[in-house]
Amino acid sequence: MIHFYQKKFFNAKFISNFASLKLRTNNYQILKQIMVTQREKEIILYKLKKSSNYDLTNYAAKSIIRRIERFIINENISSSELLLKLSDDNGFADNLVENITVNTTDLFRDPDIWTFLRLNVLNRLAEKNKINIWLAGVSKGQEVYSLMMLLNELSLLEKSHIIATDINQKVLDEAKKGEYKYRHNLDYLSNFDKVIKKNPLNHTETFDVDYNKYFEINKEKDIIKMKDILLKKAVFIKHDLVIDNTPNYSKFDLIICRNVLIYFNEILQAEVLKKFHNSLFEKSFLLLGIHESILGESSSLFTKKGKIYIKQEII
Ligand SMILES: C[S@@+](CC[C@H](N)C(=O)[O-])C[C@H]1O[C@@H](n2cnc3c(N)ncnc32)[C@H](O)[C@@H]1O
Repeated sequence: MIHFYQKKFFNAKFISNFASLKLRTNNYQILKQIMVTQREKEIILYKLKKSSNYDLTNYAAKSIIRRIERFIINENISSSELLLKLSDDNGFADNLVENITVNTTDLFRDPDIWTFLRLNVLNRLAEKNKINIWLAGVSKGQEVYSLMMLLNELSLLEKSHIIATDINQKVLDEAKKGEYKYRHNLDYLSNFDKVIKKNPLNHTETFDVDYNKYFEINKEKDIIKMKDILLKKAVFIKHDLVIDNTPNYSKFDLIICRNVLIYFNEILQAEVLKKFHNSLFEKSFLLLGIHESILGESSSLFTKKGKIYIKQEII
C-alpha cells in the first residue's frame, strides 16, 4: 500500500525530475545519468500493480531498478510518460513486465545439474505410474526440451505430464515453437554430449544418440528446431508465481524453478517456497538454480540432498 506522502512525491518531485529526461538516443552512456531511486521504483511498481494484474513490488530492488532504467532508455520515454502509459495503455503493462524480467536461459544450462537429476531424481521417479512435473519460469523453453530429452533417454517421457509456466506470454510463444538461433546456441551440442551421450556412471563410456533424434539443425538458415516428439509433449501456460494458484495438477513429483527466485526478495521467496511445498507430494523434489538456496524459516519445509530439495511434512 503506497502512502499519501508517496503520492505527493510522485505528483511533484517525480514528474518534474523526470520530464526533462526524455531521451532521443540509445546511447548507453545515458544509462549512467538515469538514476531511478528506490522511492521512484516503488511508485512505478505500485502504479503497475494498480493498473494490471502484475505485482512486482517484492522483486529484489537492485536488479529491478537497473531493468527499469534500461527500459526507459530503450523505449525512449521519460519516467513520467512511463507512468502515464501504465494508466492509458492496456498492453503497456505486459510490455514493461516482459522487459524488466530477465529471460536468459540455455539448453542443458549448468550441465552437471542434469546429470545429477538423471542419477538421483529421475531414476527414483521411474517406479511411478505417472510422473507430474512443473517447470516454473521456463523463459523460452530450452529447459523444458532438455528435461524431455533426458526423460526420453530414460524411457520416462511417455508417462510424464509436464507443465511449463512463465509470467511472460511472449517467451512462452517462442517456447512453444521450439525454434532457436543456432549460432547463439553453440554450447547446445557440447552440453547435449555431456548430459545425454555420456554414461553418468562411467565417463569413459558414451551412448550413441544422434542429435537428429531430438532436433534438426539448419546451418544455412541458422536455426535449431525441436522435433515433434518434444513439441507435442509439454503444455505451456502463462502463470504468475506471485498471484496465481498451483497450475492444473493437484500435486507434483518434481518442481523445477531455476534462476527465478534469485530475482525475488526474501518475503516473496518465502511465499513462493510455501506454494511449492503445498504443490508437491510428500518427499517429492524441488530443484532450484545453482546459485539459489533455501534459507531462514522456509528451510524447515525442505531437506537438501546434494543439489536437490526434498519436501518435508510439517508436523
Ligand atoms: C532467468 S529466466 C530463467 C529461465 C530458466 N528457468 C533457466 O534457468 O534457464 C527467469 C524467468 O522467470 C520468469 N519470471 C519472472 N517472474 C515470474 C513470476 N512472477 N512468475 C512466473 N515466472 C516469472 C521470467 O519471465 C523469466 O522467463
